[in-house]
Amino acid sequence: MKKIAKIDEIPRNGSKLVMINNKPIALFNLEGRIIAWDNRCPHRGASLADSHISEDIIQCKFHLWEFDTHSECSVANPAIKIKSYPIELKDGYVLLDEKITSDL
Ligand code: FES
Repeated sequence: MKKIAKIDEIPRNGSKLVMINNKPIALFNLEGRIIAWDNRCPHRGASLADSHISEDIIQCKFHLWEFDTHSECSVANPAIKIKSYPIELKDGYVLLDEKITSDL
């Protein structure tokens, strides 16, 4: 597992953008729940790290598409799913599987 960020670098109900193998990954802190999504909005690729962020909904700022943070799908069209990455939290760090990071 590779350290990709410190947990305390991700503001509560905020985000941190990291680049892994030249791919942008948005880390979100949703009331203490940390998730990792492909930073590119499935609509037109805007930065999801810059979204309106709440515990249950991440809303892209560009055209206001909303994504459910639990199902990781578009609220309006559940067939549209965000690409997300499994992470682990350990010793204050967010860890991502190195195999996954090299496959990105
Ligand atoms: S680019 Fe995100 S809603 Fe259009």
